[in-house]
Amino acid sequence: MTRIFSGVKPTGHLTLGNYLGAVRQWAKVDQHRADALFCIVDLHALTVEHDPGRVCRLSRQATTLLLAAGLEPAQCTVFVQSHVDEHARLSYLLECVATDGEMRRMIQYKEKSARERAHGGSVRLSLLTYPVLMAADILAYGADEVPVGDDQRQHVELTRDLAVRFNQRYGHTFVTPRATHPVVAARVMDLQEPTSKMGKSHDAGAGIVYLLDEPDVVRKKIMRAVTDSGQEVEYDREAKPGISNLLEILAACTDGEPEKLGGAYTSYGALKKDTADAVVEVLRPLQERHRELVADPAYVDGVLKEGAERARGMARPTVDAAYRAIGLLPPS
Ligand code: TYM
Repeated sequence: MTRIFSGVKPTGHLTLGNYLGAVRQWAKVDQHRADALFCIVDLHALTVEHDPGRVCRLSRQATTLLLAAGLEPAQCTVFVQSHVDEHARLSYLLECVATDGEMRRMIQYKEKSARERAHGGSVRLSLLTYPVLMAADILAYGADEVPVGDDQRQHVELTRDLAVRFNQRYGHTFVTPRATHPVVAARVMDLQEPTSKMGKSHDAGAGIVYLLDEPDVVRKKIMRAVTDSGQEVEYDREAKPGISNLLEILAACTDGEPEKLGGAYTSYGALKKDTADAVVEVLRPLQERHRELVADPAYVDGVLKEGAERARGMARPTVDAAYRAIGLLPPS
């Protein structure tokens, strides 16, 4: 059976971009067609300036939101990265296979390190090695597929390179995974800055729709979205980034096609209104279920406990095999 692994980082409240680019696909399709693991990657949240209490709260909130979005513990494994030691164990071995040049070429490293420096901070070594830990997440489970938004493409490419290199040097140990992306909304853009990705770690802004935003807040943010010059509603990412972003969001929420939807509108205002309605409708059941789950913390704890046990059982044999293959003396 196909094995799927993906994750979400608790560095901020989850956004519509996380949902449409990744989580929705996990819940609707992936968990039903494969042996799937979904991980709240809390170790990754430590790679930038963070408030310890907030990371802890956000990890719990992300878990609750993934369950509210439809992940079913009977269908898939939901767990927290730091609960399974194999991620950190394997990450170190992969650091011995990766090169510093490869790390410095990563687009997200360049962007995030520049942002940290611009805010007067120093860049943590773990930010540089972030993609190695991500590779360990994926390779520890022998995942065949990694369903992610467009921004993770380069990281999964690196994961493939590391798997192939390790296998060539030390014998076949890892499955070489491949990234999969949704056809629509693989890169949801910021509503106020439609040439930048809608990102949860960015400063809270009018351009980001959070999954827990109240309906009137969602409407306000979408109605105030920056649009483009001209009047025509057409899908053209280059010439009309604002309108194209709205068409992608509407298409993703209504299972339509952005190019076709464009022809149905004669004004920007009507497109915004329909997009706002569609997003509110998509978020409504998720928010209701979230409220129920918040009232049942024991259930969420139970899911994570069982998830970590299952995940450990899956990762350990592969990581132990990697330890042996690379030349470490097994404990007697
Ligand atoms: P993270 O937490 O930034 O995002 C979680 C998922 O949401 C997708 N995504 C988006 N998709 C479309 N439009 C957007 N604006 C948007 N913003 C985010 C991301 O592509 C991702 O699929 N490095 C990863 C977490 C990670 C991981 C892994 C993922 C760690 N280990 C192993 C897969 C496998 C990250 O920061 O995702």
